[in-house]
Amino acid sequence: MSFNNRKFSMNRSSGVPRESTRTRRFSTHEPSANETNSKIHRQFRNAHEGHKSHAGLDPTRASTGVIWCTERAYEHGFLDEPDKWANLGQGAPEVDDDIEGSFERPHTVDVTMTGREYGPTAGIKGLRAAVANLYNAHHREGKESKYTWENVCIVPGGRAGLIRIAAVLNNAYLGFFIPDYTAYNEMLSLFKNFAAIPSPLAEADGYHIHPDKIAEEIARGTSVILTSNPRNPTGKVVKNPELAEIQDICRDRATLVMDEFYGGYNYTSDCDGTTISAADNIDDVDEDDVLIIDGLTKRFRLPGWRIAWIVGPKEFIKAIGSCGSYLDGGANVPFQEAAIPMLEPNKVLTEMKALQTHFRDKRDYVVERLRAMGFKIETVPDSTFYLWLDLEGLPDSISDGLNFFQACLEERVIVVPGIFFDLNPSKRRDLFDSPCHHFVRFSYGPKMDTLKMGLDGIERVLQKFGSSKAEAEEKHTSGRSRVPLLLALPKHLNSLSESGRHLAEPQERLKRVYFPRSFSEVAATLRVRVT
Ligand SMILES: Cc1ncc(COP(=O)(O)O)c(C=O)c1O
Repeated sequence: MSFNNRKFSMNRSSGVPRESTRTRRFSTHEPSANETNSKIHRQFRNAHEGHKSHAGLDPTRASTGVIWCTERAYEHGFLDEPDKWANLGQGAPEVDDDIEGSFERPHTVDVTMTGREYGPTAGIKGLRAAVANLYNAHHREGKESKYTWENVCIVPGGRAGLIRIAAVLNNAYLGFFIPDYTAYNEMLSLFKNFAAIPSPLAEADGYHIHPDKIAEEIARGTSVILTSNPRNPTGKVVKNPELAEIQDICRDRATLVMDEFYGGYNYTSDCDGTTISAADNIDDVDEDDVLIIDGLTKRFRLPGWRIAWIVGPKEFIKAIGSCGSYLDGGANVPFQEAAIPMLEPNKVLTEMKALQTHFRDKRDYVVERLRAMGFKIETVPDSTFYLWLDLEGLPDSISDGLNFFQACLEERVIVVPGIFFDLNPSKRRDLFDSPCHHFVRFSYGPKMDTLKMGLDGIERVLQKFGSSKAEAEEKHTSGRSRVPLLLALPKHLNSLSESGRHLAEPQERLKRVYFPRSFSEVAATLRVRVT
């Protein structure tokens, strides 16, 4: 008996069936003529879980939207000539030492004997204490309750931290907002200890999270709330007094997971170095159920170091620290040691001032150029380094995120289609009606030269598709028709399967693509399963 005869295989990320030179097959006998000549058999095999090209692999679990975009860019030559490309897709800040007023990052890292050993999975005490000291200096001055090293867990990057939090959560309803950070999709799918409930934010309202919204969530039984703040991808922030109000609502009712990776990219206080953090409003650091997550990745511009932290009540932190023993094993010790001197509070304040001034200038440059091209940017985002770019004013053929993304690739520019931020954990919803369709996320994290190159590329796209500023403005003012629009899907998207399924026929899909005007319209039709 042999199982070595499988005939059908496909590239699951591009969805293109591939001819296998191997003849493995999970069956004890050869396919009958009935089977090989039958379309329905082929379709079944291409889509069915039991017929993957590698027995133990489900590649649909492997990549986030941003990675999918990068892979499409590779197909257009990004890997061969990266210098000729403007990657405005990945959320990476520039990492050079040439930002005025910013401290120079270490060029070498000392590896002590301790650094050779396994480190504690909650992080080394010195760095945990340095983080606690930073939060006390910047957010707890004059307050009785202060953080100690036991309120801090060091984790190998933000995503590892999010996964650790997810791993120790109760059997709860977890509320999250859309749009939000793409990696939450996977974080909210992998664990079965809680049920994730989406809460769409309204486009017309600038995707603001109002305290009332939080109260509503809690009233319907949600006891964990997760959000980025400042928010990826919209660049919006909830700050005091509203943030304090939200925390008051949650106190003793719900655990608030505040992803503050962009807290330093705050342009609301005249670039004075202030970092936005929920730590300002906590009454008792061991009682208030607020978990704050941040790290060196964004505001210290060291994404490659993989050093991040979670700050919260001791009991929570103990669990989050311990679960590193079966999840990731902890952050590397030499880089933890090297991070300690960077977190001196005065040094951080100076650094944040330099960062804010530099990135605000880049934001202003990008907004001015995009507006000159005819893009509608009603309110300039006051935090992060993202623009949630509305494409509605563009000619129909590029007025959706996927087609605009494709057109940008031809000009060596990478942006991320908005649909990837319409979080859909466990792929429970059909995203073809996504209100994020007519957006892309534009990152102004890269250096000015790259931004210029990217904007020049976008200008060429608009010229190519005959978009004029006057027409874009007129289209925005008159509003988009409510009649469902047909979207000419690029060829490679014919089998892109956000829902994890390979959809029957491209034509079938075309009929279903339209652009609702707001999240609330879609909210009414959301089908949410909470199993
Ligand atoms: C909101 C948010 N949180 C967390 C992270 C994770 O950062 P890291 O690269 O450290 O895993 C990111 C990265 O893009 C992010 O946008």
